[in-house]
Amino acid sequence: MQQNTSHPFHPSAGTAPVLSARDLTRSFGSTTALDRLGLDIQVGESLAIMGPSGSGKSTLLHTLAGIERPDAGSVLFRDPSASTGPVEIAALGESARSRLRRGSFGFVFQAGLLIPELTAIENVAMALMINGVSRAAALPRAAEWLRALGLAGMEERRIGQLSGGQAQRVAIARAQVTGATVTFADEPTGALDSATSSEVLDILIDATVGRGNTLVMVTHDPQVAARCHRVIHLLDGRIQHDAGVPTPGAEARS
Ligand SMILES: Nc1ncnc2c1ncn2[C@@H]1O[C@H](COP(=O)(O)OP(=O)(O)O)[C@@H](O)[C@H]1O
Ligand SMILES: [Mg+2]
Repeated sequence: MQQNTSHPFHPSAGTAPVLSARDLTRSFGSTTALDRLGLDIQVGESLAIMGPSGSGKSTLLHTLAGIERPDAGSVLFRDPSASTGPVEIAALGESARSRLRRGSFGFVFQAGLLIPELTAIENVAMALMINGVSRAAALPRAAEWLRALGLAGMEERRIGQLSGGQAQRVAIARAQVTGATVTFADEPTGALDSATSSEVLDILIDATVGRGNTLVMVTHDPQVAARCHRVIHLLDGRIQHDAGVPTPGAEARS
């Protein structure tokens, strides 16, 4: 698979992974969604997660992001922008995980995360306001992100008054306005036509990896995956295939 040449990836040797999963296991009844899965994700990397329906993609994404807790195993998060040490996400309680998600992670899903009753700018500002930023301080920062993503003039529109591609740009702005260290995307272009999909993907990659941050994305679209540095294929909750740059942390695990 081709790498995205507009964002060449040069992991600095010895840099600790931003996320390290070890022995991640999650079952739903007799279904094993994650089967002792291990994965290191490097700072600045874009990672595509592929695999057939039911192979564990969403469960992996949600577990890495602290939305779901595994039955067993660990997820270590090392925020390169923080002075604090690594955080064991899987061991945190609900409210600590929620704080971590709000402060350090961004989310772009296929649909449904934007609040239809709010305007574009309010949806973006909301991500800051739930982190304690005042409305007066949040709105200009939200406007700046909307402008950067090509939505100047659309600030006061409600989500229903935007096209699918425009709404996904609002979702990207909302995910980035807090300075997310890692952005998690689940089929972010799944509901878009191919031209719009390509445009939104450009913006998503620019806004994350283009700024030195990390992107973890579930997709079933090989063209979308081909734009990422690295592609992993899941089957029955395990990594069946891992293609892309070698991960420096992988051979020197402590
Ligand atoms: N909340 C849940 N309750 C019961 N089964 C679930 C739940 N979430 C996921 N599963 C099951 O776990 C497996 C993996 O699901 P998922 O991670 O959503 O796969 P994918 O995203 O690759 O389609 C599937 O068999 C799915 O049916
Ligand atoms: Mg899924």
